[in-house]
Amino acid sequence: MKAVILAAGKATRLRPVTLTMPKALVPVANKTLIGYAIDVLKGAGLTDIGIVVNDLESPIPQTLGRGNGMGVNLEYIVQAEQLGLAHAVGLCRDFVGDEPFCVFLGDNIFQDKMEKLFNGFVESDAETAIALGEVSDPTRYGIAELGDDCIKRVVEKPKEPKSNLAIAGVYLFRRSIFDAIGRIKPSWRNELEITDAIQTLIDDRCRARPYVLKGWWIDAGKPDAIVLANQLVLEDLPYTPAPEDKDQIIGKSEVSHRVLLGKNSQVIDSVIRGPVIIGDNTIIRNSYIGPYTSLGDNVVVEGSEIEASIVMKNCVIRNIPGRIDSSLLADNAHVVAAQRMPAARRLILAENSYVQL
Ligand code: DAU
Repeated sequence: MKAVILAAGKATRLRPVTLTMPKALVPVANKTLIGYAIDVLKGAGLTDIGIVVNDLESPIPQTLGRGNGMGVNLEYIVQAEQLGLAHAVGLCRDFVGDEPFCVFLGDNIFQDKMEKLFNGFVESDAETAIALGEVSDPTRYGIAELGDDCIKRVVEKPKEPKSNLAIAGVYLFRRSIFDAIGRIKPSWRNELEITDAIQTLIDDRCRARPYVLKGWWIDAGKPDAIVLANQLVLEDLPYTPAPEDKDQIIGKSEVSHRVLLGKNSQVIDSVIRGPVIIGDNTIIRNSYIGPYTSLGDNVVVEGSEIEASIVMKNCVIRNIPGRIDSSLLADNAHVVAAQRMPAARRLILAENSYVQL
């Protein structure tokens, strides 16, 4: 079975982070979102993976290449205009051929490895199998209504939802989906919805097999959701003893267990309480790094406190009063106290930036 990961959206809800970085490359616990999707697919034995991207100059092919060293073969399928999930899937027809295949939304992240979704699908009488997760706000998702061991109806972002079981971004299909995609019309948001193509299969009396997810699932489309995903992934880190290397843990530092410290990184006169992950060549001085924090490579934190946040590579945080919490800093961001009078607030922000003072 082959797989396709859809990663060609505009990601406007995650600006300004996504002004320069596609959503799929946003790091959660220092691994890209798309890296988690690839791990689930690999775990299910799917190693031939097509990734749908806006164009071949996108940072996704530039970063992941052919997948060398990841144990997968990656190919890229270009969707120049984002006309909807069904349109994106339709473009994958040549790549997947006649065999059953998996579609994975590149901005979804799961605790569940989903083996039971994949197991037995090829031999089954089902024309599709869909991962479902319970949500508190069903109007934001594709929603499934269950019958006897099957899905009897799916609706995209219903105004009056009949269930709280959301379509969770992982689907198994056979080639019948391409014919169904050919028969649907654009939705009210002017997109070809994969949910409508699935309903077409159900109307054709095809069996749609539900798989209800175990554990947490996050549609990481917004900053809050990314920060939450980071906390959940770090929460699942297994126990590791406190790092003790004297070249890395220096002066009056206190570092707890479940702290992963990268190469050449140093903790100087600082307190770190795990679960925390820190990349390579990062310097922490006179600071507190609290639980559920991910610091990327080449970060400097001095005289500051930070907790439950994502700080991407090359950021600088210096002498900030109060604690930084639940924050998302993209590459090269600087958050520093004024060094001279007037000690005024000074902000240089990209479109859609958010600052809470
Ligand atoms: O997250 C689960 C939800 O994902 C489902 O419950 C919905 O049924 C499904 O329609 C989808 O809804 P979203 O509105 O959240 O989809 P979004 O536009 O965020 O796109 C999901 C991924 O697909 C994202 O990684 C970008 C990619 N994409 C999106 C579009 C519209 C493409 O590759 N091409 C596209 O044309």
